[in-house]
Amino acid sequence: MQWTAKDSVAVVTGASSGIGKCLTQLLADRGCHVMAIARRADRIREWSASLGCTDFGGVTPLAGDITDHDVRSTVRSMIETHHNGRLDLLVNNAGIGGIGKFADATPERLRQIMEVNFFAPVELTRILLPSLHRGSSAVICNVSSVLGHRAVPDKSEYCASKFAIHGWSDSLRAELAADGIQVTLVSPSTTKSEFFDSLIETDPKTTSRSMGHWSPQRVAAKAYHAICNRRSEVILSLGGKALVYTDRLAPSLMNKILAQRPAKTDDSSNSVDQ
Ligand SMILES: NC(=O)c1ccc[n+]([C@@H]2O[C@H](COP(=O)([O-])OP(=O)(O)OC[C@H]3O[C@@H](n4cnc5c(N)ncnc54)[C@H](OP(=O)(O)O)[C@@H]3O)[C@@H](O)[C@H]2O)c1
Repeated sequence: MQWTAKDSVAVVTGASSGIGKCLTQLLADRGCHVMAIARRADRIREWSASLGCTDFGGVTPLAGDITDHDVRSTVRSMIETHHNGRLDLLVNNAGIGGIGKFADATPERLRQIMEVNFFAPVELTRILLPSLHRGSSAVICNVSSVLGHRAVPDKSEYCASKFAIHGWSDSLRAELAADGIQVTLVSPSTTKSEFFDSLIETDPKTTSRSMGHWSPQRVAAKAYHAICNRRSEVILSLGGKALVYTDRLAPSLMNKILAQRPAKTDDSSNSVDQ
């Protein structure tokens, strides 16, 4: 059975920019009622006002930090109040990163990245599970990364957070299968968004190079397709697939390639994908 946006109720985190914004717009355009969460909700308000889709779907902005328990409880209360406690789609998309060697980082970088990329989506899912059970062919879409399949140097905290969400998604999918709730893991490669403007504890001179990048619109369209088809897992981009499948076939070769990358210098740093 397919998932359909029309008249569905969705929660999307990280909807003020990038992939989350594009996916929210796509869902609302197709008649979905989206509760869109980010700290900068004023931004969501600005662009959603011009969507003009209130007769069909619509966007309800919610300002808040998803690492805050009270914010997550507010999401649940709003679903109870406005949608009879029913939720058809939860998109755990909000995320942050940081670049630099593990040895040079403070424990705070790890803590912050794990809080936003792992603990917050897990706890948001926990609190919304009863509503998802009331949804129709409900889907939990976790936006991970190709780096949740193959870790690379200088992004150890980010990779750890994406591996964690990957492992948890696989486990949860099996647990919820009998209840008809699908868990869809979407793993983009480098995407041209504001992600690289908000890296934490990262040398400002660091640039992130990659083998090409996708637009957030293209990533959102693929994520939407995966949700509608209730896919278990999608790895986006040829570069991303090359990284992941080469690693699966020849992990020692990939270890050698990644270990040979040049040491960080003043004017260069990174990187393969995000
Ligand atoms: N860009 C890439 O190359 C790339 C590649 C693979 C995977 N991804 C993943 O894709 C997802 C979306 O990233 P993006 O590329 O679209 O980056 P982005 O444009 O920086 O968007 C990140 C979103 O997360 C929100 N956010 C961050 N911390 C939050 C918090 N504590 N509470 C609530 N919202 C928070 C931000 O909103 P506010 O700042 O307004 O709160 C923003 O809307 C992330 O999970 C990222 O790891 C990105």
